[in-house]
Amino acid sequence: MPHTDILLGLQWGDEGKGKIVDVLSQSYGVVARFQGGPNAGHTIHFDGKKFVLHTIPSGIFREECQNVVGNGVVIDPVRFEQEIKNLRAAGYQPEKNLHISLRAHLILPSHRLLDAASEKAKGIEKIGSTLRGIGPTYMDKTGRNGLRVGDVFQADFEQKYHRLKRKHLDIVRPLDADAHIDPNEEDAFFAALDNLRSLNCLNTEYFLNQKMTEGIPILAEGAQGTLLDIEFGTYPFVTSSNTTAAGACAGLGISPRCIRKVMGVFKAYTTRVGSGPFPTELLDETGQKIRDQGAEYGSTTGRPRRCGWLDLVALNYAVMINGVTDLMMMKSDVLSGFDSLNLCTNYLNNNTLSSQMPMELDQVVPHYTTLNGWNQDLTQTTQTEHLPSPLLKYIDFIQQFTQTPISLVSVGPGREQTLFL
Ligand code: IMP
Repeated sequence: MPHTDILLGLQWGDEGKGKIVDVLSQSYGVVARFQGGPNAGHTIHFDGKKFVLHTIPSGIFREECQNVVGNGVVIDPVRFEQEIKNLRAAGYQPEKNLHISLRAHLILPSHRLLDAASEKAKGIEKIGSTLRGIGPTYMDKTGRNGLRVGDVFQADFEQKYHRLKRKHLDIVRPLDADAHIDPNEEDAFFAALDNLRSLNCLNTEYFLNQKMTEGIPILAEGAQGTLLDIEFGTYPFVTSSNTTAAGACAGLGISPRCIRKVMGVFKAYTTRVGSGPFPTELLDETGQKIRDQGAEYGSTTGRPRRCGWLDLVALNYAVMINGVTDLMMMKSDVLSGFDSLNLCTNYLNNNTLSSQMPMELDQVVPHYTTLNGWNQDLTQTTQTEHLPSPLLKYIDFIQQFTQTPISLVSVGPGREQTLFL
């Protein structure tokens, strides 16, 4: 039966999706990214090495696995070329198993300029964007002004580029009269387009559907997380794409009828980078302890991540929106050494206890259930039976609350630090 499984984040991104895609990719013939762009940072550790991928799918390290950058992704040609160079320097030949959609939109240097100007204009209400030009590129896509990978093969590409750049400068100049594009950045952009043209750019929707017809299973790799989704996230503090399961069909050109499993990845606690509400955030030494033990600093921007307890109200919402069939719990090892652990099971909203996610998340006060912690180091654990009983109770509590099985528990960044339940 032809099928695609989706793997996505259930929180505010940084759940550890890259590691899981890498671990699971041996069971799939194709890994396909369906949204986002270089705002993502998917970190993968193996053989004592660490790689951070931003746009390229996390199956790239397995030669036999084909990798697709789908139409829903936005590509910054300069960063993309750098990623290819990093892979080549490490001995990989990404051009052999990488396919890029002709319909994917391009991030121009002037999109980054717009991103910075928009954040500056918002002042203290800024989104905390990664400033990679993501929002303005998706704005041009829905505004029907954008440039796509396929355009770089056309003779009038430069003309179209300059027209769009002028439009962007016209928007920015009233906010910042000196705004301009650095000529070096522009040169780098055009040079990087040669790299893009040399790669395998095609109608990936045909490629993917053909693979499924041949019985080859596909893994659709999400970026960011459900709570950053443009529809269901904590708007306006969200990214500009559909990070949820529905985004996989639109961002790859595959039918909902092909979707089999939806694997939802979450951390045993919660983190967030950038601005926006975060009910279970810990601004005390417990939050700092989680940040230190979990090395919670952004893989794309290096910013310290905000840390807090696991929010089961938000997790349940994400399970519902995505139709999650399997949960995968990451960074369980980070929670070793706490006497007790809080799980948010309700929100107090306008003096009423509720288990639903409201539109305005900044109004709610979290209500917790407290479970016992554990002290054992989990990073060497290879068998589920050897996990401490308070952790097994923690897992069981989450399964009961979400009515969804946890099929995988991660106890460290390495491929081998993965327990299948
Ligand atoms: P943008 O996607 O760069 O516009 O950023 C919008 C919001 O999403 C900001 O709060 C970012 O910090 C957040 N964000 C974007 N990409 C990621 C990611 O890959 N992980 C975590 N947060 C992200």
